Amino acid sequence: MFARSAARSLTSQSRLFSTTAARLTKVAVLGAGGGIGQPLSLLLKSDPLVTSLSLYDIRGAPGVAADVSHVDTGSEVNGYAADKLDEALEGVEVVVIPAGVPRKMTRDDLFNTNASIVRDLASAIGRVAPSAHVLVISNPVNSTVPIVASTLAKAGVYNPARVFGVTTLDVVRAARFTAGIAGVSPAEAPITVVGGHSGATIVPLLSQSTHGKGIKGEVYDKLVHRIQFGGDEVVKAKDGAGSATLSMAYAGAKFTNALLRGLNGEKGVVTPTFVESPLYKDQGIDFFSSNVELGVNGVEKIHPLGQLSAEEEKLMEACLPELKKNIEKGRAFVESS
Ligand code: NAD
Ligand code: LMR
Repeated sequence: MFARSAARSLTSQSRLFSTTAARLTKVAVLGAGGGIGQPLSLLLKSDPLVTSLSLYDIRGAPGVAADVSHVDTGSEVNGYAADKLDEALEGVEVVVIPAGVPRKMTRDDLFNTNASIVRDLASAIGRVAPSAHVLVISNPVNSTVPIVASTLAKAGVYNPARVFGVTTLDVVRAARFTAGIAGVSPAEAPITVVGGHSGATIVPLLSQSTHGKGIKGEVYDKLVHRIQFGGDEVVKAKDGAGSATLSMAYAGAKFTNALLRGLNGEKGVVTPTFVESPLYKDQGIDFFSSNVELGVNGVEKIHPLGQLSAEEEKLMEACLPELKKNIEKGRAFVESS
């Protein structure tokens, strides 16, 4: 079931999980009782690279843990109630955060509620598990990642190689939608998606893809729009009941597996993720998603964007000012806290 490969990128991988080595890894999910948290916990229980799973939520985590713990894979599972956050983080190497509210309108509407949830969780991580790798799913990712980074920095334990915004759902959608147009399997149509995770800040580099580069004109415009606003499709279809949960759980498990493979020493694990990045620092943009090689220390290497088409240059022009505002908003929130 699990393929072995020394050098395989996440985007070219068709299976959800693969593994090359055995190593003990304790993973925590903060927000494990939610729409994303529950299926994500189940998928992580199925990942052979996870040996211990620590499930925390202000509501319902012990129940989710009892349920998931019956799945017949080797990992141990523990659930922690609202007042047990520190216990949940004890000895954890990877923390995945899907805690917070999903949107009804724009992702930025979530800022007021989710900013403090994420800041408080990051504070606890800084205190109890300061060397953990932190994977942020809670929206708005463009702001919550700077919030985590600034909170850990305030605590004196920030390591930029260990804080990631999970943008994998954009990558998953881009492959799926492009493959549908090109008439191939999504595994054959990996697309690098750069920038951030909301609307115009999501920039798919279709010109760099064998199956994406031939897509032009109106079909191209519609495809880019669908990748940038795929979240809206789900919000609309759920009609007031939340945003993407199942595809996000899949994407979150996929990114976690990629990180665990990197931490285990597998070489060549490369995927887009929103990290502190030198690429646009000269324009005052400290965080950016581009292809990142994941390794034993987390971020191993941040890849440059490569050649962009004229259309992609225009998309970047729209992306950068919005991304900068989102990042500054996150930073300012922690400074004023
Ligand atoms: P949900 O409301 O179903 O679940 C959120 C969970 O967080 C709930 O169980 C809630 O009890 C828990 N929670 C709230 N405060 C908490 C705290 N202080 N500590 C621990 N747990 C806490 O929401 P959802 O649909 O699972 O979405 C969660 C977040 O993920 C939202 O912000 C959403 O916008 C975001 N999201 C991100 C992406 C992405 O691509 N990065 C994709 C989809 C959704
Ligand atoms: C998504 O892209 O589906 C998520 O960010 C959830 C949302 O708010 O759209």
